Amino acid sequence: MKIEVLGSSAGGGLPQFNCNCDNCKAYREGKKTVKRRTQSSITISEDGKNWVLFNTSPDILEQIHNSPFLQPQERRETKIKAIIFIDAQIDHTTGLLMLREGCPHEVYCTKEVNEELNTSFPLFKMLTHWDGGGIKYNEITPNNKSFEIPVMPSYEFFALPLISNAPPYSKYRDKPRAGDNIGIVVRNKITGKKLFYLPGLGVVEKHIVNEMRDADILLVDGTVWTNDEMIKNGFSTKLGTDMGHIPLSGEEGLIKILDTLEKPRKILIHINNTNPILDEENDEYKELISHGIEVSYDGMSIEI
Ligand code: MLT
Ligand code: MN
Ligand code: ZN
Repeated sequence: MKIEVLGSSAGGGLPQFNCNCDNCKAYREGKKTVKRRTQSSITISEDGKNWVLFNTSPDILEQIHNSPFLQPQERRETKIKAIIFIDAQIDHTTGLLMLREGCPHEVYCTKEVNEELNTSFPLFKMLTHWDGGGIKYNEITPNNKSFEIPVMPSYEFFALPLISNAPPYSKYRDKPRAGDNIGIVVRNKITGKKLFYLPGLGVVEKHIVNEMRDADILLVDGTVWTNDEMIKNGFSTKLGTDMGHIPLSGEEGLIKILDTLEKPRKILIHINNTNPILDEENDEYKELISHGIEVSYDGMSIEI
């Protein structure tokens, strides 16, 4: 399986249009240890020709522009043969509007996400007005049997409900339902090798740790370094965990949990522009590296 990181940042990207935090400022000043980052998304492929996209970032057009393998060879075609939504967040869904000329898209999501994207943020409904007539909905049932996607015949997909949060616009904000946030395991049916993708993780339950332990590649939520990072910066009144993102550092942090895992390659994704790990000169970045944890970047290629 080929895995390409299209976007490694959390909502807003780096630099964020209205932000002059240390990282956004350093990037604008040309500091080499801080990278430009678009909003989080990955794409995977079995044959290197047909791709399954995870989330449609608001930056999808730039991401496709930077990814020749996603560009058409026929006069009209898209290499994106399926789209999986792991939640209904703005930074994971808005880009679908930018793909409207390619309708209908094969979309895989839970019924909760399907509801949000037909009601509170009705992208799916709106797209029915374009040629091709909207999307083709394939329901994902978390914790149920695996599902398959035709362009990746050697693989099976599993969805796990995660404790995170519903989008800020949602009537389910702060009272998320199972199905509002999922992680996805992609397993090779022949080799057993697994990718586990979970960019929005608020609480790490036992069964999630067990899944993490058995993965070969882990692409996991790296939003904030400390829980009060947004508050300390004066940018928000919310803790990371209020937003559904476990912090990396501290006794209750994700690093402590990742330290207990031996098998997987541990890679962070969905990293907020305020996170000090995004400047490679910072001690926090060096600490992460000393734990054997990687920071994904736009254009990162992984193969298993
Ligand atoms: C999140 O990850 O919590 C959301 O993407 C927040 C947002 O909509 O910016
Ligand atoms: Mn987000
Ligand atoms: Zn910033």
